[in-house]
Formats: sequence, C-alpha cells, structure tokens
Amino acid sequence: MRNNDLRLKLDFNYMMEDFLEEHGIKHQQVNEILHKIEHAQKNMELKRNEGSMDFRDLPYNQDEVVAEIISFAEAAKDRIENFVVLGIGGSALGPIAVQQAINHLYYNELSKEQRKGYPKLYVLDNIDPEKIASLLDIIDIEKTMFNVISKSGSTAETMSQLMILETMLIEKVGQDVAKDLIVFTTDKEKGNLIKISKEKGYKKFIIPASVGGRFSQLTPVGLLPAAMCGIDIKQMLAGAALMDEMCKEQDVYINPGYMYAILQYIAMKKGANMCVMMPYADSLKYMADWYAQIWAESISKKYNNQGEIVNAGQTPIKALGVTDQHSQVQLYTEGPFDKVIVLMQVEEFKHTLEIPKIYEKIDSIAFMGGHTQNELIRVEQIATEYALMKAGRMNMTITLPKVNEYTIGQLIYLFEVATAFMGELMEVNAFDQPGVEEGKNATYAMFNEPGYEDKREEIMGRAAKKEDYVI
Ligand code: PA5
Repeated sequence: MRNNDLRLKLDFNYMMEDFLEEHGIKHQQVNEILHKIEHAQKNMELKRNEGSMDFRDLPYNQDEVVAEIISFAEAAKDRIENFVVLGIGGSALGPIAVQQAINHLYYNELSKEQRKGYPKLYVLDNIDPEKIASLLDIIDIEKTMFNVISKSGSTAETMSQLMILETMLIEKVGQDVAKDLIVFTTDKEKGNLIKISKEKGYKKFIIPASVGGRFSQLTPVGLLPAAMCGIDIKQMLAGAALMDEMCKEQDVYINPGYMYAILQYIAMKKGANMCVMMPYADSLKYMADWYAQIWAESISKKYNNQGEIVNAGQTPIKALGVTDQHSQVQLYTEGPFDKVIVLMQVEEFKHTLEIPKIYEKIDSIAFMGGHTQNELIRVEQIATEYALMKAGRMNMTITLPKVNEYTIGQLIYLFEVATAFMGELMEVNAFDQPGVEEGKNATYAMFNEPGYEDKREEIMGRAAKKEDYVI
C-alpha cells in the first residue's frame, strides 16, 4: 500500500543558481540538454519494455520468490546461530547496507531473544585470510548457514571462500548435514554454483538473468540475507514500487531519479567530477558504500555507446555526518570546486536522546542542555548545507522521514534509476564492467586457470619493475 507520509524527498535548492550565483546550475542549462533528456527518457522506457532494464520490474514480479524466501528464513532461523554471506561487490554491499540501515546498530551483539530468534549476520566480502580466520574464531560452523552469492558463479574471491568453508563444514558435520547449511544465490544457467548445486543438492535462489550485480539488491541477493535477520522484505519492495511511480513522471522537475542524474550530469560538465555521499545517520553509513559502487562501476567507462574513447565518470566519495564535518568538510567548503555534495538526513530517528541540563553555569555548553541529540544532528546537517551553499558549493539533500524497510526500498530504487538515467545521459553502458572483468581475468591467468594462457603470457611479458624506484 502506498504511504506518502513516508515518501523520500530530494531537495536540490542549493544546486541552483538561485542560491549559488556563480557556481549553481541555471534552468537554461537544463533546457540546453532537453533533447538529450528526452532521448534518455525514451531509451529508459524502450529498454524497460524490451526487458533490458529488468531491475525496474523487481518491485512487482517476485511474489513467489518472496514467499519462498520468507518461509525458508523462518524454517532455518531456529537451527542456526549465524548466517554468513560469501560474496563481493554487488553480491555483498547491498546486504551489508540494508542490515546496518534497518536493524539495531549492534545487531550481532544482541542476544538471540533480542534478535527475535534470527541469526547473526556476517558478510565476508574480502579474501583477507585474517578476516576469515577471525570469523572462524567466533562462530561455531555447525550452527552456521553459508549463503554463497555470485551472479556469474565464477568470481575467484567468492569461489575460494566456498572451497575453504565448504571443506571445513563437511569435515566437521559430514556432507548430509552440510547440505542443509549451504545455500546458493546465483544465475539460473551460468557459472559453477548452479552446477555444484545440482550435483550436491544445495538449495538455490535465482538472480534474474538480466539483473546485474550492483542492481540486484532487490533480488534474492539482498532479500534472503535481509529476511534471515528479520527484515520485512515485502515492505522494501513496496517502497521500491512507490519510488518507481515517482520515477515514471514525465516532468523531470518532479522525477527524483531523473532529476538527480540531470543535476549530476550538468555539474559534471561544469567540472564537478566527484560526488560526496554524506548521510547524517550511522544507520545509512553503508548505503554510501553501496552507492559508491553502483555509481562508480556503472557510469565510469572508457568508451561511449558510439565506441569513442571518453574515459567518463564521476568519483564517488563516502563520508559520514557529523563525523566527517571534523575532517573532510574543510575540503568541501574551501577546496577546489570539483564536487557535488549529497547529504542525507533522517527526520525521525528510532530513539530520542535528551541532553541533560547540567553545567548550567558554563555558557559554552549550557545552551545544549534540554535539547536532544536528534535536534543537534539535524541542526548540524542544516548548518553544513548552509555553509556549503555560502561557500558556493553545489549540494543537495535527500530526506528520509524515517529509516525503515519502506524508505530504504525507495532509496535503493532511486539510486538505481538515477544511475541508469545517468548512463543514458552520458551515453555509456551502465550495465557492464569491462574494467572489473579485466582484473578478474588477470587473476584467473596468474592462478593458471585453463583458458587464460594468452592473458598469462601477456602479464608475464610485462616490463620488469626498476629497483631504483623501490626505496
Ligand atoms: O556489479 C557487478 O557486476 C559486480 O560488482 C559484481 O557484483 C561483483 O564483481 C561480483 O560478481 P558475482 O556476483 O558474479 O560474483
């Protein structure tokens, strides 16, 4: 059900020349690219209709899998203490961000009762041996379920984690028990996971073929880990559906997904080749990480759609309000005019914390007594957007009335649409990642994977490094 009270808002006042005389965006600049905007709008619709933008249908077409995930999670939760995600990039950042946003900030530290019977959640998104070893020091793998998430089913990092942990698990509990502690999330046909799951009978959830890694948070990639820690995934999808309605508006001035991209596009043309994502809420800290990936990996491309070299992109920077007011904000207010700063604010936090009226004789702190930390964080966010505006810096604010499943669903969908639209404006393919693939291939080659002999030869033949430059 549509809940407009919980609708996200995008405030772009301080992007515009009305407030930033010298550095702001003029309506004229939007008008100048109207043909480009219209073309991008048409392409968005065309691609949606022809099925090459399937992430847009996820709020509507997953009833069956959502029911399956919920009953799987409810059945599994009593058997296990820990749910460990093995994945990387688009197969890890969403689960981390959503868990941090919605659950208790120290969720894993709570008792099982406080977690309403749901397991602790860990996401192993790196292959640092110390991280895996440290996790093994604190979990009992007999009471742990491993969710291996990989769209391609071949990513070396994730496959190596599977090989290590599956072996340990089988050694400890035997194949029969292990079978019920391993679940795959992967493509229906491609890759190793689907083959292994058929061979060994591991439970699997399918990622729709046309939804790529970083656009997959609203598929079982994100829905299963979320449901496993008690998050209401139906509400997340309902939030995404509301944002979808908003992002269907033809008038771009009331379409938050399109407007976000248009402003970033014009700002980028004016030299803002960086974008700071700065939520004023610890719960949203990892949404900035998730955003950094979708923005960086999607729109940063060597070639445009015409095959010309463009080396395009806008560097995302993660920041946290108010923490980074005491480090990075100096750069943002007085450094080069090369950034757009996106602030996120929360209207209603889950808790209200009053600052007691003590030290009433010390004027320099007494003024805070009787107020709340909620007011303080809000005021500091407004103060920062004001200071940025006064310094002529383009900034905009996304407001979440509350942080919950419904608003997080909106936020994820907003950035997905904005990213896809930005790709259209920039005329690059927002859905591939040749730069990432190159690194993956080089790894396979150096590890002697059959089929990568030429790549290995190329790498081994590279110019030797000079000792003179190592000090
Ligand atoms: O967005 C992407 O495509 C990538 O970041 C992938 O998610 C990441 O490389 C992991 O790939 P996979 O899910 O195939 O293991």
